[in-house]
Parts: sequence; structure tokens; C-alpha cells
Amino acid sequence: MEKMVETIEWIEDDAGGHVVMIDQRVLPHQQVFVECRTYEEVADAIQTMVIRGAPAIGVAAAMGVALGVQQGADFDTVCKTLAATRPTAVNLFWGIERMRRLMAGLQGRSSEEILREMIAEAKQVRVEDIALCRAIGTHGAPLVPDGKTVLTHCNAGALATAGYGTALGVIRAAVEAGKKIDVFADETRPFLQGARLTAWELQQDGIPTTLITDNMAGHFLRSGRIGCVVVGADRIAANGDVANKIGTYSVAVLAKENDVPFYVAAPVSTFDLTLESGDQIPIEQRPATEVTHVFGVPVAPENIAVQNPAFDVTPARYVTAIICEHGVARAPYQESLAALASKTSRATV
Ligand code: MRU
Repeated sequence: MEKMVETIEWIEDDAGGHVVMIDQRVLPHQQVFVECRTYEEVADAIQTMVIRGAPAIGVAAAMGVALGVQQGADFDTVCKTLAATRPTAVNLFWGIERMRRLMAGLQGRSSEEILREMIAEAKQVRVEDIALCRAIGTHGAPLVPDGKTVLTHCNAGALATAGYGTALGVIRAAVEAGKKIDVFADETRPFLQGARLTAWELQQDGIPTTLITDNMAGHFLRSGRIGCVVVGADRIAANGDVANKIGTYSVAVLAKENDVPFYVAAPVSTFDLTLESGDQIPIEQRPATEVTHVFGVPVAPENIAVQNPAFDVTPARYVTAIICEHGVARAPYQESLAALASKTSRATV
């Protein structure tokens, strides 16, 4: 297996440090790294999808807050600017909140000490995220049927996290456990995270992967070839409703119709137990040009009306199980998610 490129890193320098991210907009054909030296640059990188994927933007937000402290910027402005970048993935707000709580506990300390602690915390969020993904893989691998195909949607891989991935973490762990599986990756229109990122990641790992367009998923789910679906999540409500990349809901309905298990893999930082149901999850609307154009080339008539919701909500009744770092939750989710979430120490939620 080739070593995977790092999604996001904190690099020490004379000023304290800066953030380096691989530019996910130009993968897989170009490997370009973006350096952020200010919290504004991190906010811009999140908004413009240089970095994307719920856990990865949680890590980016924490590092952005640390950069803001390093700049000597107003702390509240830093947090608000980062929070305004993307509305759906709750990990973004979780990352900012974690830094806010640390800052509250550091009142009265010297500015050097505060900066040191903030940088250490942001780096810790990244390290923990990789460990959480590994644990998700360990819990999820036994659910993957041997000798079958796994269908996934969007990119919930190393690129969507600090490393290893959530849904792709489950797939990687199943392969590491010796299971003979292959993967069908939905291309994931309009941003093509499946074609550009998932297909690339899995190919680098030598995991047999077949790229399909989104509208082929039903055909293959009906064929008997798909053993299970595994996807990531951007926010999971208390009742088990799951917000994930647009198109996930259709896959989940088709999976249930064809008796194929539909698994969601996500860390506790993706749970939003303050929301009763998925109806309360804000859905990001993205620019019309993502739909009317493919890589800058127009594919639709000018001035056509367009909708571009970036996420949809899959009702809990379609979700066979939710895999997190502490284990596997099944319906009724109100109880099972709360029980698993309570295993995460208060210091890190
Ligand atoms: O718009 P994106 O690319 O940030 O959307 C990403 C997804 O929907 C992922 O499936 C989700 O964040 C889980 S990532 C481990």
C-alpha cells in the first residue's frame, strides 16, 4: 500500500505554526498543497472545498481557531467567521466549541501559554480523529459480508477525515481483516467526490474499486451483488436520522427495497443529540454553476432554474446500524446513540 497523502497538518514555524492542506478540488490529477497562515485563509479553504468532509472540517476549524489566537485576532470574531463557512456538518461547530471551552479554562494565563495550549489542542484533535477512524473500522469490519461488493457514496475516506476514514475506514479494516471484498463507488454528482476522491484513495490502497454513476446504484443493489452499503455522515440527530451527501437518501431507500444492509459510519462528534430529528438539520445550498457546469464547461441551457442542496436526510428507518468509535448503534436510536455518546469523556465533546 502506498502511503496516503496527509489531508491536513499543523507545521511548526517561527511564528508558531501554519496549516497545510491538500487541495481536494484538483485531485486526483494534481497534488497541490494549500498553506493557511491566517484563520481567514482556513475559513476560505473550508468554504471553497479545498478541505471537505465532516471530520476534516472539524480539524480545520480547530486549527483555524489556533491560527486566530496566534494572529492576536478577536477570539469571538475568529469563531464566528469559521462557524459561518458551512452549515450542515456539525463537526465544524464541535471543533470550534472544543477550542472555545479550552480558551474559557485558560483565562488569566499568559498569551504565550494560551497560544501553546491552543496549538496543542488543535493538533490533538487531528491525532484523535485518526484514532477514532481506526476504532470505527474495528467495530464496522465484522458487519461487512465476505466475498461481496460494498457500495459507498461520496467520500468518507482519509481525505474526509484526518486519516483512514469513516466509511472507507470500515472498508479498509475489513480488507485488513482478510475479507475479500470490492467496492462500488458512486461518482457523487455534482462535486464528484466519489469519482475524484474515493476512487483515487481506494485505488492507491489496492482495494478493487469500480466507479459507477449515481443513477446506476439501484440497478446494482437489485442485482444481488452488493453485500452492504457503508456511508459517512455530516450530522446525526437523536432519533437516528442521518444527513449526508445528496443522493444518500435514494441509496438508502433502494438498499431497503432490496434487503441490503445500509450502514452509517461516523464519530460521536457527528452526533447532534440536541436535535430531535433530521428535519431540524440545516441543509447547505451550493452554487448553481456546480450543476450547470462540469469543470467550467456548460452542460445546460443558460438561465435554467437550478436546485443544488449539498446534503439530504435519510430517515432512521432506512439505517440498519450506525457505527461509531465506541461500537454499533441500532434502533431504537434515541437510546442506543445516547448510550454510545456517553462513553466519550466530557473533556472532548
Ligand atoms: O460536501 P462534502 O464533500 O463536505 O460532503 C462530505 C460528505 O457528505 C461525507 O460523506 C461526510 O462528510 C462524511 S466524511 C467522513
